[in-house]
Amino acid sequence: MKDLILKLEKENKLTKEEWIRLIDGRTPELAEFLFERAREVRHAYYGKDVYIRGLIEFTNYCKNDCYYCGIRKSNHCVSRYRLTEEEILSCCRNGYALGFRTFVLQGGEDLWFTRERMTALIRSIREEFPDCAITLSVGEREKDEYQEYFDAGANRFLLRHETANDAHYRYLHPEELSLQHRKDCLWNLRHIGYQVGSGIMVGSPGQKTEHLAEDLLFLQELQPHMVGIGPFIPHKDTPFREEKAGTLELTLFLLGCVRLMLPKVLMPATTALSTIHPDGRKMGILAGANVVMPNLSPQENRKLYSLYDNKRCMGDEAAEGLALLKTEMEEIGYKIVSARGDALLETEEGKA
Ligand code: 5AD
Repeated sequence: MKDLILKLEKENKLTKEEWIRLIDGRTPELAEFLFERAREVRHAYYGKDVYIRGLIEFTNYCKNDCYYCGIRKSNHCVSRYRLTEEEILSCCRNGYALGFRTFVLQGGEDLWFTRERMTALIRSIREEFPDCAITLSVGEREKDEYQEYFDAGANRFLLRHETANDAHYRYLHPEELSLQHRKDCLWNLRHIGYQVGSGIMVGSPGQKTEHLAEDLLFLQELQPHMVGIGPFIPHKDTPFREEKAGTLELTLFLLGCVRLMLPKVLMPATTALSTIHPDGRKMGILAGANVVMPNLSPQENRKLYSLYDNKRCMGDEAAEGLALLKTEMEEIGYKIVSARGDALLETEEGKA
């Protein structure tokens, strides 16, 4: 099996059969070997730096009904909120003072935030924070809308593909949503010139090794600048309430695999990972991740952005707990840096 890992490191790809063999054949020893290789590759490009992104969860309204997600539209137990532009700007100001140079605007697919409102919001942030990166995570939109946001000053976009297998996509999402449309969105974003992030949940209901292999092949084809991978965690008010959570062990293994497949990728140790294990974030960094995304949202809204049960949002997951996070990273020999931390990979624009 070590030969597969060495091949992956050298060629940055495996065939579907090889991925399945590697994932199904993993052992604790093999994982340790993978993480060593992943760290070495990560150190070659990024040293011991860990980039920080300030996460602003600006609306928990959503028109979609994904079976796994706590803010799906059919969940009537959650009270809904939207931040005003002034509140969002105030989150950015707090974040800026703390050292953040990337703001991630994440929300449900909320139609109140029309094209005009989104564009105005992005313009305001861009104007006040010319030296910061603006990352959007607002779901599927038309290409010209993505273009407008890019022109208004957005630089990056996060849109996990969730699963690259059609049947599995169908199992996780209602009829109105399609994998093809999601993939089209990702390609559109790439072509416009965004730094693009995609990714998956590990251990989502119905997920087989074969699906993970297809996810890795899709990521290899897309060559995203960023990849988000976290465990699925059931939410009590969703149809998947009785399902099991994804494991720490498999999530870490996949982080290591992605680091070797996409050596320059920006990859967060996710909140979901630190939710299933108190040392999840540290372990994520040691498996090849190089980004953390503390929460900059107003304290009173955080609990309402409940994608899954017991989502962590305080202490080292909170922007104001940056000192804690710094210590935590130092304990494993890494260093939080304030830099924007742009992708080393070219964007379509950069190439032109
Ligand atoms: N468990 C883990 N991650 C989830 N997400 C949504 N619901 C859950 C859940 N129950 C993830 C999705 C989405 C991202 C914003 O949060 O992958 O893309």
